[in-house]
Amino acid sequence: MPPQRRHLILLCTLVGLASIAACAGPFPQSTLSPTSDFGHSIDHLFRGIFWWAVGVFVVVEGILLYSIVRFRHQEGAPAPAQHHGHTTLEIAWTLAPALILVFIAVPTVRTIFETDTAPPGALRVEVTGHQWWWEYHYPDLGIVTANELHVPVGKPISVDITSSDVIHAWWTPKLGGKRDAIPGHHNKIFFTADSVGEFMGQCVEYCGASHANMRLRTFVDSDSGFQAWVANQKTVPAVPAKGSPEEAGRAAFMKYGCIGCHTVAGYSNGPIGPNLTHVGSRTMIAGDIMMNTEQHLRDWLGNPPEMKPGSIMPNLHVSQPDLNALVAYLQSLK
Ligand code: CUA
Repeated sequence: MPPQRRHLILLCTLVGLASIAACAGPFPQSTLSPTSDFGHSIDHLFRGIFWWAVGVFVVVEGILLYSIVRFRHQEGAPAPAQHHGHTTLEIAWTLAPALILVFIAVPTVRTIFETDTAPPGALRVEVTGHQWWWEYHYPDLGIVTANELHVPVGKPISVDITSSDVIHAWWTPKLGGKRDAIPGHHNKIFFTADSVGEFMGQCVEYCGASHANMRLRTFVDSDSGFQAWVANQKTVPAVPAKGSPEEAGRAAFMKYGCIGCHTVAGYSNGPIGPNLTHVGSRTMIAGDIMMNTEQHLRDWLGNPPEMKPGSIMPNLHVSQPDLNALVAYLQSLK
């Protein structure tokens, strides 16, 4: 066997094995197991189109294989008869694809319209994309948070999506379609989640150095769980006790100018970075790329651009004692 062919076979085998390995799961961002009405509409549409595609594939490949076998070259056979044109066939292969496109277009347009109207009484959430994190504002509840969206199960949600800088796109695959977040423009998504859980998502429009570090997480809470979350989000953090590490951290939060960018209710009013009023209660930090642990907070605050390339938060060269204090303070903001 020539070496090129051997290499080709080896390459195909490796690619095949790698593809099979990708089937292992779990799939936190699969659209194939939707958990909202919007997700189910898209899934239903996809499955319809998928079976049309399967039909086309089987017919085309079937005719191709039949032709290859039936009309293959045979030793001594006479040259085949030459044909030019076949009106019936030509009309058929023009009409059939046109009809299939109609069968795909009608449900597509129907789904677009069905999913494009705000259900009455929907809970409103305003999403703003930033390089590289997501801001969530609940105008009816007076809550602002970042990266982790909380919604109640079984209640319609109206998501209004925009951006403060470049174009991003907001997507929680299990809850439905993606939408671009465009500066000066508002896109909408409406969905009603049907199961409680934690659903991963991410920015899906290339938006700069840390596009891949712009993840998000949607928590679908039980009704009482959501009410408890709302009640907690509305609280104002207590002033730390005199002489505590948290108090030193609160002072460092001012000393290093964190207050200029970040809001902590009752203390600072920074409009640039994520609202940190309840950062200690979030599961992740830094655009949902690291678990919210003491060590990760230390790594993150110690050198933000190293953790997240292009980060607008600079390396503030925080001293070790101040770093410890800051971490204690942020962790206390439950
Ligand atoms: Cu934001 Cu990609």
